[in-house]
Parts: sequence; structure tokens; C-alpha cells
Amino acid sequence: MKYGYFDDAAREYIIVRPDTPLPWINYLGCEEYFGLISNTAGGYSFYKDARLRRLTRYRYNNSPLDVGGRYLYLRDNKSGSYWSPSWMPTRTKLDEYECRHGQGYTIITSKFNGIKSSTRYFVPLGESLEIWQVTLTNESRAVSDLSLFSAIEFCLWDANDDSTNFQRNYSIGQVEIVDDVIYHKTEYRERRDHFAYFACSEKLAGFDTQREAFLGNYHGWNQPQVVETGASSNSEAHGWQPIGSHHVKVHLKAGEQKQIIFILGYHENPKDDKFDPPTSQIVNKKSVKPIIEKYLQPANADKAFNSLHDYWTTLLGKFQVTTPDTHTNRMVNIWNAYQCMVTFNMSRSASYFESGIGRGMGFRDSNQDLLGFVHMIPERARERILDLSATQLKNGGAFHQYQPLTKRGNNDVGSGFNDDPAWLVLGVAAYIKESGDWSILDVPVQYENEAGSEMPLYEHLQRSLQYTLDRLGPNRLPLIGRADWNDCLNLNCFSDTPGQSFQTTTNKDGKVAESIFIAGLFVLACQEMAGIAKYKNDKAEGNKVQKAAAEMEKTVWASGWDGDWFRRAYDNFGHVLGSKENTEGRIFIEPQGICIMAGLGVENGNAVKALDSVAEHLATPHGIILQQPAFSQYYLHLGEISSYPPGYKENAGIFCHTNPWIMIAESIVGRGDKAFDYYKRINPSAREEISELHKCEPYVYAQMIAGKDAPTHGEAKNSWLTGTAAWNYAAITQYILGIRPGFDGLEVKPVIPSGWSDFEVVRSYRGVRYEISVKRAGAGNAVSLEVDGKSISGTIISLPKKETSTVRVKAVIR
Ligand code: GLC
Ligand code: GLC
Repeated sequence: MKYGYFDDAAREYIIVRPDTPLPWINYLGCEEYFGLISNTAGGYSFYKDARLRRLTRYRYNNSPLDVGGRYLYLRDNKSGSYWSPSWMPTRTKLDEYECRHGQGYTIITSKFNGIKSSTRYFVPLGESLEIWQVTLTNESRAVSDLSLFSAIEFCLWDANDDSTNFQRNYSIGQVEIVDDVIYHKTEYRERRDHFAYFACSEKLAGFDTQREAFLGNYHGWNQPQVVETGASSNSEAHGWQPIGSHHVKVHLKAGEQKQIIFILGYHENPKDDKFDPPTSQIVNKKSVKPIIEKYLQPANADKAFNSLHDYWTTLLGKFQVTTPDTHTNRMVNIWNAYQCMVTFNMSRSASYFESGIGRGMGFRDSNQDLLGFVHMIPERARERILDLSATQLKNGGAFHQYQPLTKRGNNDVGSGFNDDPAWLVLGVAAYIKESGDWSILDVPVQYENEAGSEMPLYEHLQRSLQYTLDRLGPNRLPLIGRADWNDCLNLNCFSDTPGQSFQTTTNKDGKVAESIFIAGLFVLACQEMAGIAKYKNDKAEGNKVQKAAAEMEKTVWASGWDGDWFRRAYDNFGHVLGSKENTEGRIFIEPQGICIMAGLGVENGNAVKALDSVAEHLATPHGIILQQPAFSQYYLHLGEISSYPPGYKENAGIFCHTNPWIMIAESIVGRGDKAFDYYKRINPSAREEISELHKCEPYVYAQMIAGKDAPTHGEAKNSWLTGTAAWNYAAITQYILGIRPGFDGLEVKPVIPSGWSDFEVVRSYRGVRYEISVKRAGAGNAVSLEVDGKSISGTIISLPKKETSTVRVKAVIR
């Protein structure tokens, strides 16, 4: 069953009924000001950091699930009836409803009793504000006398404090209402130099800034007293819960239309110029006023929207494909790329499953998110790499997270995830392959955000790899530390007390438990480093990493191969995990993916063996499961992985992030049909028809789909913020379609399904437009290339001369 449909020409997903199985959300903003918005206008906004600069309040895990947002109420002043044009929170049955989610904007349109309302929400590029452009049309035959109320609830900035420290917070809320603009200035009187504002293009009939004055005691958002009575109370908040609500009277003749604009924004003043007059406590509004005036004009709002639209046309235009498969085209050309931007911006901080409080920018997550984003705006990937590496520890390890506002490593989660540093090498390699910007290696970067500790980024990469070599276990495999990619495989944790964090508790000294996953990742990272060292003419480093990789491979064959698949780990007692010797957790997906991506077993046939084992033991129609058999009970020595009921999350869920590794591995061994089959199984667009089971948005990947041991097999959770976005983008574009950036040029080496006769790609690469057409002339994977009419040998197209703007490539597969 579907709840909407794709409009690929408009690059939108259109939801046609408001009661989706879960809130189906979108993101506003793509630079510094962000908002989450659901299909019923729920959600919240923040500046840079969802924890430290939250503008509006949102209560997670509420009932109904999604209450609180960018609400509007319309009231028919003749009859006294009122409704929400976004359905929530009044849930009045609307005569028409439609929500269009696009790239960085959402438009909610509905009709009730002849009044059509359409609201376009977006954030203009370069600004720290959001616009709600409301168009009301009287489609009835009678004159209408309407009241329009806006409503948001301010958050007192620090979202964690805001939802816990009530003894203080109930006393500090402050606002100003000047010239019909509502200013939220809690804590501005002391150490903050920022405030929020909420403005409306119309003369107001009234306003409210105190929540209970607006709602009425014991009323909910579905039944505000002010809306019921049709009269604002002009309340001024003193403590308690500051809100912003405007009241506008709208008279529309039959057929008449009117546009009303609201803007909600964030503004900073210089520390020494906060007040006006300077001796007062009144917010200095000189620099914010022109911004407010500008965007309250419809022409300027339209212009800003068109720029946003063009911006996305350019970004998405960097990779466009036409294949025989609609789901592939739409995900690659629109939604998967868009999701990659969102995961790049948010890491795992703010979604409807991530509170914006618990997690900042993850070290391993952000390095992987780069992989799907770097071709769109390489400069921003560069900045991210430098921010991340500045949080690297001197011993080569990493703070697991940093806060986007401060850009400092975050001690809450600490460090000791032994895979972290290797991902930096992969991130940097991807950036250089895309941009050709080798200069990044020479940029001096701090360690542990400490002034004076700067070393070239190249040195950071060396320390990253050395970190693994300094931590080898009894089998000479890498020690796992707190965990590797699988946060829940906590082999040193031994947590027996409720409430202890699996992420930070460690009871064993960690000198025994080893990870075959890190071994594979290390080999892969060494290969990238060898490519980098070669360019640097650093033979010593090149030899060192090649030797280290070769040795690690030998170790994997000696202790990490189980006969039919790669093993997963050795625990604190030196017992193997992910082996036929185990009764539960016999086979894991991660080492199969990463080891084959690193080339292990490709020559000797073991890669194919491992992949056949994946097909036999882990593949389901809904995607590939993380491990089997599921852990049936809590095992002290395994940690969080066994804390989940079977079939969920890391305990045998379909952890989608890992599926593209298998797609890539299948491509590497030349099995295009298998690779594409796996691709299709978790492609959200291809799952649209089963939305009532899948539950999450059909336009973005979710982190997890319940596995076959779960009673809800096929049900997705944790949509949007997942490494699945970047890795699927890499799997389909770079391996299946085979358009792969390299240090020396663009490679074209597709491994496509046997049924595809052709496809076309337009790809911007290092400032050149590559127009690539691929035809199948035989059943194999051998590729011959003709570049601008001349055939070349191999599959890598060397970089064209400086003045070249377009390169035409013809590929034939035999
Ligand atoms: C989550 C984390 C990621 C981790 C994965 C597996 O997605 O963000 O860092 O690798 O879970 O545990
Ligand atoms: C839990 C989740 C895992 C996530 C981690 C982040 O362990 O199962 O997916 O990566 O929390 O803190």
C-alpha cells in the first residue's frame, strides 16, 4: 500500500494522506540553519547544532508521536469552526490534502470548507532563517471572514537543559514584541549574543507569547483557547514557556487569493553592541531589521526559493543517470544524493530517531558520509576532513564525536573505538580522488584541538594506520577496543549493571579481543595510503604500508578465515566469533564485505565462497541480515549486540549500512545480477508498494529493517541518518554503474545486470563534464572504452587537457 507517489520531474515525493504509518519527514536548510519538518508540519529548527542552539521546542516520543511544529490554524469567524491546514494538531478531516517534500523545502496544501491553503517552508541559501509562505485562496462562492494564527514554541537554546532543568527554566524565559515582531531573548541579558525572531508580513490583530495564555489551562495544541474564541490575548511571556503566535484577519472575496509570509530566524549581535540603547536591556535590532523586511516581501521570498531550486539542480546535475530501472534513476538522480547531503550535514545528530542531544558529529560516520557527498561540494568535504582530523588524538586514535558548534572532540562518548582512525584515510582518499586537491595533505592540523600541536594532515594519516599496528592482539589481528564499526560488539565491556552505557563502559584491559573487520579495513586503508604515498614520492611510507597490508592479509588467512566465510572476531577469552564453531553468531556480514572490498579472496576464490555463504545464510527478500543465528539471550562477553531482541538492530537485523558492502563485493567478483538484486531489495523506492509494512519514508534509506527473526520482519526504523546513504550511493554509482573517481582520472568499469542492454551517465569530474554511454554487446564484464572517438587501453580515462570542458565516452561491455 502506498501513501503517496514520486514526481520525478519535479524531484518531489507527494504524500496524499496525512496519516502516514510514521511521520514522513524532510529537512529544511543545507548550510548552517536547519529544520526538520514532517508531512503534518511537525518538527523543530536549530542553528548549526541541534543540542546547543535549538530555536524551537520538540518533545520526542510523544503521543501522538509527532506534536509540536510550525503550526497554523485557520478559523472561520462566521461559524467559529477552525482547522489545521497541515492536519495536525487539530486533525480535522480535510477535503483535500497534499504534502510535497523536495530538496530543502516542503509544501503542504489542503482545502477545507472552500478555503485552500498552501504553505511553502524553506530556508534561503546564505541565511539563518526559514520562510513560511502561505497562500490562501477562497474557492467557495461566499465571502470569507478568516483568522489565521501561527504557533511555535521556543526552546531555551540548550536542548538538553531545556528538557531537564525546569526549576531554572520556568523563570528565565523572556521576549520582546516590537513592531509586530516577536523576539525570543531568553538568556540574552547575560552571556548569549543571539536571539530568535518570528515575524509576519501582515498587520496583526493580536499576538501571544505565553503558552498557557494561548492554549488555555489543560488545553492541548489541538484546541487552543485563543483559536477557539478567535481572539489573541496579547500575552507577554515572563518565564514559563515562551511561544510565538501571530493573529492575522483575512477577508477574501469568492475566488480571491492572498499571500502571507512568516519568518522565523536566528540572529547574532556583536558582544559589545547587544543592546539599544546601550545602557538598556533591549535587544539591538539594527542589523536584523533589514533581513526581516527583505524576506517579508513575496518577490524576495520567491527569488530565494528559485535560487534554492537552481542550487539543487546544479548539485544533482553532477551525476545523472538513465538506466532501464526507474528506482535506480530516481534514487541516484534525486533522493539518494539528497540524503547524502543530509547525512553529511547532520551526521547522526538530529532526526525523528536521533534527538539532537545525544550525538554530535561521529568520526567514523562523518568520514563515511563524505563518500556519497564529496562530488557535490568538495570544498565542504575538505573543511569537514580538517575539522575531524583536528579532533584526532596524538596516539592516532580519535574522539568518537565532536559538537558541530564548537568543533571540539566530545568527551561524552570518549574514544577507543579502534576502527575510527582508519576511516579518516578512506575519507581523505575519496576527497583527493574526487577533487585532485593534493594540497590538503600539507595543511597543518591540530591534534586533540590543541593549539601548537599542528602537524600536516599527511602525518595524521600515518598515525591513523600506526594506531592499528600499535594495537595487535594474540593472533596479530587488530585489537577491537571499545568496539569497531559495530558499536554493539562490546567484547571488553562486561556490563552487568542496568543503565551502564555500552558505549563508555569497559571492564577489561582489552589486550585479547580482536577484530577481523578492522583487519580488512586496515588493508583497505593501507591500499589507499599507498596511492597517496606514491604521489608524495614517499617510498618509505609506500613500502611500509604495503608490507603491513600483506602481513595483515596473511594473518587473516591464518586466523580470520573459517573455510566458507571470514570470521568476525576473537573475544576476551580468545574464543572465535562468526565461525562454524559457534552456535549463535556463526556468520556476520561485516567481514565478508570489508575483506572483499580490500581484495581478499578475489584471486583464490574465497571471496566467491564467502559471498555464496552470505546468500545462503544472511540474505532475505528484505535485505541482508547482519548475522545469524541471532543471539537468543544476553551474553556478558558480547555486550550490546546480544541486548537486542532477535531480529532487531545489530542482533540479526537488516542493518542496511552493510548491504552495499556486499553489493560492492559482488561487483568486484563480477556478479552484476547479484549486486543489483541486493541493491533492489533495500532500495526505498522499490519498497514503496509495501509502505504499510516498511513504515518509513519511501524516498530515503533507513538504518535498519527488522530481520527474519523479528515478528515484524520487513519493518524499517531509524530513517534518514545512516551510513546506508553514502555507501549505497557508492555501490550503485561507483561499482554497479562503475563510474569511479581515482587518483589519476575517472574510471569506467560497470558490472551491470545481464538484462541491461545500455545506460547513460553525465558526470562532472574535476570541472569536466563526462558524457558516458554504455552498451552491452556480450554477457561478460570486459569493458572497452572509446574516449572522444579514440579507443584507449584499460578502464581509466586520464585527465584531459586543461581547456577541455566535455569528454565523450563510449563503453562497450562484452
Ligand atoms: C550506527 C552508528 C555507526 C555504527 C553502526 C553500527 O549507525 O552511527 O557509527 O557503525 O550504528 O553499530
Ligand atoms: C546503539 C545502537 C547503534 C548505535 C549506537 C550509538 O548501540 O544499537 O546502532 O550506533 O547506539 O551510540
